Formats: sequence, C-alpha cells, structure tokens
Amino acid sequence: SSPVLMDGFHRRLTYLRLSVTDFCNFRCEYCLPNGYQGKRPDNELTLSEIDTLLSAFAALGTQKVRLTGGEPSVRRDLADIIALAKQKSGVRTVAVSSNGYKLGKHLSAWHSAGLNQLNLSVDSFNRQVFHKMTGFDMLPTLLKDVDTLLETTDIRVKMNGILMADTAYDNLLAALEFVKQRPITYRFIEFMQTSDNSDLFYAQNQTGRLIKTYLSEHGWQAKVRQSDGGPAIEYQHPDYVGSIGIIEPYAKDFCESCNRLRVSSLGKVHLCLFDSENYDIRPALMAGDVAQTISQIKALMPKKPEHHYLDAHSGLMNNLSLVGG
Ligand code: GTP
Ligand code: 5AD
Ligand code: SF4
Repeated sequence: SSPVLMDGFHRRLTYLRLSVTDFCNFRCEYCLPNGYQGKRPDNELTLSEIDTLLSAFAALGTQKVRLTGGEPSVRRDLADIIALAKQKSGVRTVAVSSNGYKLGKHLSAWHSAGLNQLNLSVDSFNRQVFHKMTGFDMLPTLLKDVDTLLETTDIRVKMNGILMADTAYDNLLAALEFVKQRPITYRFIEFMQTSDNSDLFYAQNQTGRLIKTYLSEHGWQAKVRQSDGGPAIEYQHPDYVGSIGIIEPYAKDFCESCNRLRVSSLGKVHLCLFDSENYDIRPALMAGDVAQTISQIKALMPKKPEHHYLDAHSGLMNNLSLVGG
C-alpha cells in the first residue's frame, strides 16, 4: 500500500477540507440571507468518528487539514478537533475557515490546541456595510481580536472578502491600508452564484479585473503560485508587510495541481470542492474502522475529476451550495 493518496491524474492528495457542521450563525446576504433554515442537524460527525477519519487520512499522507462549515466554531468541541488533527502523524498544518464570531473568546483554546492558520471572512472594513452584509455588527470586535491574535500567537491569518460591484473599490483601499503593517493576506473572492442568491449575483458580480488593474498600476507584483497553492493568486509590494489575493473559483488553472479532498459534516467524501456527487463513508467511521476507511478512500481515487464543472457562463450547477464547503 502506497503511503500517499494519488488520483488518476498523478496528483497527490495531501490536503483535507473537512466540514464539521453545516450550521451557521451568520446570515450573509450572498450566502444565507435568511439565516440557516431549520434546526441545526443533530447527526454531525462525532468527535470519535472524526478521530477515525483523521487517522485514516493521516495514514494516507494528509499533511494539511482545514476545518470548515457552515461556521466551524458553533461546535463546542472545535478545539478538541483541532488537537486531534494536530496530533496525527504527518499532519503539519491545521487550519480553520471561520466568520470570526467571538474569536477573542476562542483564540487561546484554538492556539493551545495547535491551530496554525486561520482564514476569516471580512467582507467589508466599513462597520455599517459589514453589519448589513452579515447581519452582525461586530467588525470592530473582530479587528481588535485579529490584532490580539497577531500580537500573542504565531497563527497565520488570511482574510476573505466577497467581490461585489458596490463595495469592491472602497474595500480594496481599506484592505490595502489594513495589510500595510500586518502580515495578513486579504483575498477577494469572485462572487459565485447559488440557488439562493441569483438576484444579488446579477446585480453585483464582478471579475477580479478591477483589483488586478489597480494593483499592477500601483507597484504590486503577482507572486509565483506554489505548486500546491490552491486557487488564490497573491500580490506583494515592497512597502507592504501583508499581501492581497484574488480567488477566481470559476478558473480551472489551479485544478491541474489540485491536492484537495473534501469531507462533509455527515461523512460524505466529495472528490472536488464543488462536486455535488459524494460517497458515504460514515458506516466505517461509525464502526471506528480505520482500515476500512482507508480502503474506501483509496478506492475513490480513480474517480476524482480532472477539474471542477462550474461554468461562469451557463449559470450554476444545480443546487450549488457553499454551506458545507
Ligand atoms: P488555503 O489555500 O489553505 O489558505 O485555503 P483556502 O483559500 O482554500 O480556504 P478558504 O476556506 O479560505 O476558501 C476560500 C475560497 O477559496 C472558497 O470559498 C472557495 O471559493 C475557494 N476555494 C478553495 N478551495 C477551492 C477549490 O478546490 N476549488 C475552487 N474552485 N475553489 C476553491
Ligand atoms: N461566492 C463567493 N464566496 C463565497 N463565500 C461564501 N459564499 C460565497 C459566494 N456565493 C465565501 C465566504 C468565506 C469563504 C469560505 O467562502 O465569504 O470567506
Ligand atoms: Fe455563514 Fe459563511 Fe455563509 Fe456567512 S458565508 S452565512 S459566515 S456560512
């Protein structure tokens, strides 16, 4: 048995993106404008099932684990999950993608558990706009907590902001100011259409061109993309400590070097982030059977698609939902 997972295109899959809950406490206008509908699911993977899953992935050569949601911090055992991931042999980096709600409260537990990297959604640097976009008036608290994090820990921080016509330019100027003295990468994500946000999408979607043009006219240089760097293109500038990035999820060039697999909060393997097709490995996880989990994951590898099937021009995939991603 080979120690590293490899798919049919000779790509090594060393990066696991694990959703630990689909639930979210925010109601971002582009994602869950009316909030999470219904009750929080009561059948999320348990800590012991996650342990089995992580043991299997670690045995298969996983080097980086990113915990996502929904909003992962709504799980009270998130620090325990971080610690489990961190303890697996071969896992070098444990990352979380979060909206940053009560970051100040969680920070020391996450740090002690071994968190290496935190990606935070910061869709606006304007307090009122942030409030309107997310439903929460907590920008000042969030930014204060980020500075505490930078002063007291070595956790690497990236921020994500959705690219919208009305806010892009103001947000770019504010992001430039914010990263000037801080070692943070602020990344604009092109707006993706889902079944819940079509009107807003048509009104606000923008390509990253405005951002790229501004950056190149102001002395910013694109960094060489790491072979396993994921979808972001990052720009740096000699006068700035931090960087600015652009994520174009509809592009396919980063798929060529894809190193990622995704597992949902209910134990389903998605071979591509945006592939609605999935493979249920929950029974093996429930049984605590690491060997069976390993063989089931390996058996899926030949099925991994060469690239995602999102198409910016023909609308969206049916029922594309970023919640659970
Ligand atoms: P790192 O590269 O580890 O920092 O993480 P990330 O940027 O992948 O994680 P994050 O959760 O911050 O994701 C930000 C956005 O990147 C997501 O909302 C997606 O739009 C996009 N993204 C991440 N992975 C993929 C991928 O495999 N394919 C596509 N198309 N987009 C992705
Ligand atoms: N388009 C682009 N990005 C989105 N995100 C959530 N929904 C969308 C969408 N429709 C982003 C969040 C978060 C990241 C993980 O995904 O803003 O920063
Ligand atoms: Fe929640 Fe993230 Fe969706 Fe906002 S974008 S509603 S924080 S899952």
